[in-house]
Amino acid sequence: LITDVRLRRVLDSRGNPTVEADVLTESGGFGRAAAPSGASTGEYEAVERPPTEAIAAAREHAVPRLVGEAYAGNQREVDSILHAADGTDDFSKIGANSAVAISMAAAKAGADVLGAPLFQHLGGAFRGENFPIPLGNVVGGGEHAADATDIQEFLTAPVGAPSVADAVFANAAVHGAVADLLEERDVPSGKGDEGAWAPSIEDEDAFEIVDEAVSQVEDDVGFEIRFGLDVAAAEMYDADSETYEYESAGISRDTDEQIEYIADLVDEYDLVYVEDPFDENDYEAFAELTDNVGDQTLICGDDLFVTNTDRLADGIDQGAANSILIKPNQIGTLTDAFDAIELATENGYDSVVSHRSGETEDTTIAHLAVATDVPFIKTGAVGGERTAKLNELIRIADDAT
Ligand code: PGA
Ligand code: ZN
Repeated sequence: LITDVRLRRVLDSRGNPTVEADVLTESGGFGRAAAPSGASTGEYEAVERPPTEAIAAAREHAVPRLVGEAYAGNQREVDSILHAADGTDDFSKIGANSAVAISMAAAKAGADVLGAPLFQHLGGAFRGENFPIPLGNVVGGGEHAADATDIQEFLTAPVGAPSVADAVFANAAVHGAVADLLEERDVPSGKGDEGAWAPSIEDEDAFEIVDEAVSQVEDDVGFEIRFGLDVAAAEMYDADSETYEYESAGISRDTDEQIEYIADLVDEYDLVYVEDPFDENDYEAFAELTDNVGDQTLICGDDLFVTNTDRLADGIDQGAANSILIKPNQIGTLTDAFDAIELATENGYDSVVSHRSGETEDTTIAHLAVATDVPFIKTGAVGGERTAKLNELIRIADDAT
């Protein structure tokens, strides 16, 4: 039985305040979790409130309904209480940031009571034996860095890695090789919010550099590393002119041109993964691209689906995309995230568990990805708040095998 829920403001990786929750139970169980925060957020995400307000609202409405009432190990009960306490359909009262922090902290307290690792508690005895392949963000721009690439994330996918640790180190090696190639070209570069290099170059150059870095590391490690993108195209889309604005390149593409451009990139770079290639309202363009290249690559909806089963159901009806990005804070609870994964799986869509650009040391998503047997996890390549998850994956694999 939950005996206390404590909420506080802590720092995230951008230096902004975020919500951290502690859940304590009668039998001495303890769980602590913190909410991440997006920068290129989807229009249809659950509402993140300013942390002070979210904490005050959760203390008033949610905490009294949980304390002495719910079992931490009963995730569906905890999460349905959070929904009832909030009373809106987008967590605009207690904030999705308070909700997700409490939901994840309760899961950890539930695992603690059982004496089981979180992935075991979440996944159960019959979870799959597979480990997710980490997608490493090695070059990026968009909303994550000023004056860098138009495409938000150039991702590497070590699909041939014999272990999760090999994959994690391969992504870091590509990140390092990119730095060397930038230096050779005399291109100075800082890093974006997720630790990817954020040079002032055009997408075309980024493709060339990442391609070269991937080849170098492939030669070194001796297994296949593929390539992926998060276009985050909603951020580029101009609804008035109905065009995608590639500002660094000075190119404007209408929807048909965008479909053709992305399909060409899939062929040219043998992309294994393309996230949000279109605006979040354009199911039709997603469907057309999926029709064209969906058998070669994952077309993933992030801002399109926002981890929301209603939006995913619409996408399934229309054949839009063939995979969904799972970010628990987009929807507010672990139960909702699980339901989205389940609906995806039932309909032949893959799920990809993901971090946010604003993160903390919290490692819940590493456990969630293992528990749900998803093929990929997107959680960066370097930087403490990213390596927190990557190193946790290495530990989980070590414990589980
Ligand atoms: P965000 O970006 O966390 O800033 O929304 C990540 C993404 O678009 O996948
Ligand atoms: Zn995205």
